Amino acid sequence: MTKYITKKSGKYWPSKAMKEIAWVNDKKIYKQANKNPVKFWSELAKKGIMWEELWDEKKTYIEKLPYFWWFKGAKLNFCVNALDRHLGRSEKPALIWVPEPIKEKPTILTYKELYDKVNKCANLLKKLGVKKGDAVSIYLPLIPEAAIAMLACTRIGAIHSVVFSAFAPDALKARIQDCKAKVLITADGYYRRGKKENLLKKAKKALRKSGIKKVLVVNRLSKNKTYFGKFLSFNKELEKVDLYCKPERMNSEDPMFILYTSGTTGKPKGIVHDTGGYAVQAYYTAKWNFNLHDQDIMWCTADIGWITGHTYAIYGPLLNGTTSLIYEGTPDFPKQDRWWKIIDKYKVSVFYTAPTAIRMFMKFGNKYVNKHKLKSLKILGTVGEPIDIDAWNWYFKKIGKSRCPIIDTWWQTETGGTLINVLPGIGPFVPTIAGLSFPGTRHAIVDKKGKKTNKGFLTQVSPFAPGMLHGVWKNHKKYVETYWKKFKTKYDTSDGAILKSGLIRVTGRTDDVMKVAGHRLATAELENTINDHNLVNESAVVPIPDKIKGETPIAFVVLEKGKPSEKLEKSLKSHVDKHLGPTSRPSKIFFVHALPKTRSGKIMRRILKNILTNEELKGLMTLVNPKCVEDIQRLIKTDEIFKNIEDKNANNLFKKD
Ligand code: WTA
Repeated sequence: MTKYITKKSGKYWPSKAMKEIAWVNDKKIYKQANKNPVKFWSELAKKGIMWEELWDEKKTYIEKLPYFWWFKGAKLNFCVNALDRHLGRSEKPALIWVPEPIKEKPTILTYKELYDKVNKCANLLKKLGVKKGDAVSIYLPLIPEAAIAMLACTRIGAIHSVVFSAFAPDALKARIQDCKAKVLITADGYYRRGKKENLLKKAKKALRKSGIKKVLVVNRLSKNKTYFGKFLSFNKELEKVDLYCKPERMNSEDPMFILYTSGTTGKPKGIVHDTGGYAVQAYYTAKWNFNLHDQDIMWCTADIGWITGHTYAIYGPLLNGTTSLIYEGTPDFPKQDRWWKIIDKYKVSVFYTAPTAIRMFMKFGNKYVNKHKLKSLKILGTVGEPIDIDAWNWYFKKIGKSRCPIIDTWWQTETGGTLINVLPGIGPFVPTIAGLSFPGTRHAIVDKKGKKTNKGFLTQVSPFAPGMLHGVWKNHKKYVETYWKKFKTKYDTSDGAILKSGLIRVTGRTDDVMKVAGHRLATAELENTINDHNLVNESAVVPIPDKIKGETPIAFVVLEKGKPSEKLEKSLKSHVDKHLGPTSRPSKIFFVHALPKTRSGKIMRRILKNILTNEELKGLMTLVNPKCVEDIQRLIKTDEIFKNIEDKNANNLFKKD
């Protein structure tokens, strides 16, 4: 079996076989790109993307912080780049969709078939009154119609806002209202762990007073169901429209989509991505990180509700004319080897997933993976949170069979595409280290004052990458406060990082954002939801390390009325499920008399975290109510459920390195 890596002086590097197939295999590219990143991206953009009209060279990159524009004034259509230009090889599969029920046949859509469906969907949206610049909300599970709907929006220049299907109605409603979506595309449901999940019921709840005029419902569960009023059957309506839709001519800087993400405040922010810059970064990062060639089959396991699903399950592979595999369900149903079976069956060559999934499979034991040869794999990727050394080694040995490089990609919803990772043809592949800034991008690790250091805050410096966010939807203030206030001319990633032998290791968030099973959650959003419960006075949420999920939220609640009980804890958890979604559910809720606060009334979450993780308590002097700390300590020590929450003392994921 071909080995794509080799070991030299204690580190893994690309083998000759990998160098031969890699798009980029000479490390000189970093120096060349860094000499003039604007020229570098300009040349790449011209080669990689089909433009209807090029930009004026002087306008390749314009920076007026806190905003910046790439390829200003250039014209293109994103959908044409993802579909029309591959029609020459129209029989090539664009999407392979694996449904959860094993008896159901997979759907394989060629580029031509996907193109036809997208064109029809685009015409349908137009028929419903959607115009260029209008927002469309998409609340769909991972089914082909999700990709069709997203691409259809890009064809007519509508701005899509995908909302994760596990989110609760309130979360959907807030997102619909913020972008004033005209149409909602949803489904009657989907399969999860052998059960039918009713998505439409949740969507209907969200729709009350939401301002949505029309709802397209994909018949995933019941093929022939008919709908009334503002509800229309996606499948049936599609049959009534024309087969071709002329692509809209868009400006490079026109917004293409909004994706809401959690920040440090209770309200999610609508991250805006433009058309041209995003296309360039999605195209090249997918191509170079995963070395995409004609025969490759890429499987990015992320849901389309997250940026990873946008860029590497749909857009990156399609821009490159590659086949992308997507699936319905969960990794361990019907059996714990579902993923490995899929890789062998469909000959997946590029596999991109999150550390939380890897840790879950490690827990299942090796017998499930040992049965599978996984010989089609060439490249493995990881994303979403720092990967610990045990997970890296297991991934490398058990999935990659010690022959595939692991590309540890650091990026964010805001960055649109990957930014820090080594390239497969260059290396080195070092456990727990993301590596180098993508050619043509620059990062700096700085201290509080913005001065360069080897351990501190991760920032991005000018010129900012083409795929970077184009602001926060209708909220300039939030954009400035979140990303530009701290370091002024540097983009604040809110991540911590360490420079080790010239390579970057990202250590995780430095703000009040948690990564729970790879999902991004704000402590404030969860607190607000808990506080909305009629028995709650106030609350504080802190994340603690978790062996599988990376982090898990723990809540401290002061009651307004009522008495602490197991029943109330359960009811608060289901309150969170109902209003935010089960991904946000705290693992444990402690009922306390008071929360540690400073004189100015600020809740000291750090102290709560230190108590939970058995760390030294600092800053008690600043508290107005230090006595409550002892009470909380006592409560935690005697709690039986908390004792069983796994790995609560594993306060450093990198401890063995
Ligand atoms: C974290 C996901 C360490 C980081 C693409 C970032 C990572 C946040 C890595 C963004 C990585 C992502 N190593 N940390 N390879 N990749 N992160 O917006 O804290 O869901 O700020 O985007 O995930 O999460 P988001």
